[in-house]
Amino acid sequence: MEKISARITGGKTLKGKIGVSGAKNAVLPVLASTIMLGGETTLLNIPSIGDINSMVRMLNSLNIRTEYRADESIHILNEKKVRHIAPYELVTAMRASFFVAGPLLAKTGFAKVPLPGGCSIGLRPVDIHIQGFEKLGVEINFEHGFVEFSALNLKGNQIDLPFPSVGATENIMMAACLAKGETVIRNSAREPEIVDLANFLIQAGALIEGVGSSTIHVQGVQSLSGVKDYFVIPDRIEIGTLLIAGGLTGGDIEIENVNSSYLSSITDMLTEAGLIISYQDNNVRCSFNGDIHPVNIVTAPHPGFPTDMQAQMMTLLTAASGHSVVKETIFENRFMHVHELIRMGASITIDGQSATVKGGKLSAADVKITDLRAGAALVLAGLIAEGKTTVHGLHHLNRGYYNLIGKLRTLGAEIDL
Ligand code: UD1
Repeated sequence: MEKISARITGGKTLKGKIGVSGAKNAVLPVLASTIMLGGETTLLNIPSIGDINSMVRMLNSLNIRTEYRADESIHILNEKKVRHIAPYELVTAMRASFFVAGPLLAKTGFAKVPLPGGCSIGLRPVDIHIQGFEKLGVEINFEHGFVEFSALNLKGNQIDLPFPSVGATENIMMAACLAKGETVIRNSAREPEIVDLANFLIQAGALIEGVGSSTIHVQGVQSLSGVKDYFVIPDRIEIGTLLIAGGLTGGDIEIENVNSSYLSSITDMLTEAGLIISYQDNNVRCSFNGDIHPVNIVTAPHPGFPTDMQAQMMTLLTAASGHSVVKETIFENRFMHVHELIRMGASITIDGQSATVKGGKLSAADVKITDLRAGAALVLAGLIAEGKTTVHGLHHLNRGYYNLIGKLRTLGAEIDL
């Protein structure tokens, strides 16, 4: 894989208007769900980023044809017999590949999927997915690193999730679409990307109610059909990252075509930190010129503050006038950006799952990206550090952001690749 770096000259003020891409975390389950659909589907607003390309390769390996088009749409043709074995190299490269289990079970009655294993931010087991499938009547065997699922007839049931896992909610909801009878998922996750997946499935003919709340009802149907021109929601994490870039550099930026209703868990916190957020029509604007206030943050399932914004928020707080405490409750190892921020002069101490950030100034250094959102945090840090920061390992960033560096440059950042 290409390992590129970026050289960022700190101190430039970001200004201007920019658009954002479709939400990676909505596109991935939507793509997986096309395994269950017959015929043709077209999805719009699909960025060509590493994780989405991996899911497309997964569909191809399962005998589903795809064509990615220059207008950021993808055409999917599901007309041949779907294979039910997910290749090891794709699942281990990207955890979200495990999302194919539910749709494969619904479509073929079988799925053989490698256990995804941990990743750099945590152990990330799939026990909640598996317990949910068992409730739907699925027989499960673990063999040679694979999980083998079989269920000739999926049967609806009441499922109480021990934790509102995003992936488990999606996987179980997808499988339930073609199960016999009603499935009720309690303590379900409520993320906007799950709502988007459900909206897509409803257009395909699924009967789903309550999504976005903590109880989802799915009435099984016989079959689902292809969907024409489904437009995936904009990426709220990309929006949040760009808003921070604007505020942090004392700039004034406007992001076009956002959906304000699902941004508040991020923008409320930015406002508390002193950034000025306003909406006009479908655009959100962030301007700032003053002191960044220290804030205390606890990551939590939606509608709480998203863990996927924790690293970027921490960079913002390195510039605050005082102490902030950031508590990570979702993943057990999501502070790897901290050590790199410290190399740039940040004053941060970690105590278990909490980090105390004392605001101050950053200075340029060579830093290394270890995971997607840590990468965004380090690029943001480079924008305000004194001097030229070299951020290594940009391939991590490109897994989840489409052209973030290009967008920052459009807004006035000085970044050389
Ligand atoms: C999704 C997002 C990811 C985001 C996360 C939390 C996608 C593709 N990824 O990941 O960007 O950071 O939600 O908002 O949508 N857990 C278990 N057992 C399980 C499932 C999860 O213990 O069976 C634990 C995980 O290890 C983790 C926590 O629950 O500590 C949250 O995981 P989950 O909500 O499932 O996140 P993902 O779906 O993996």
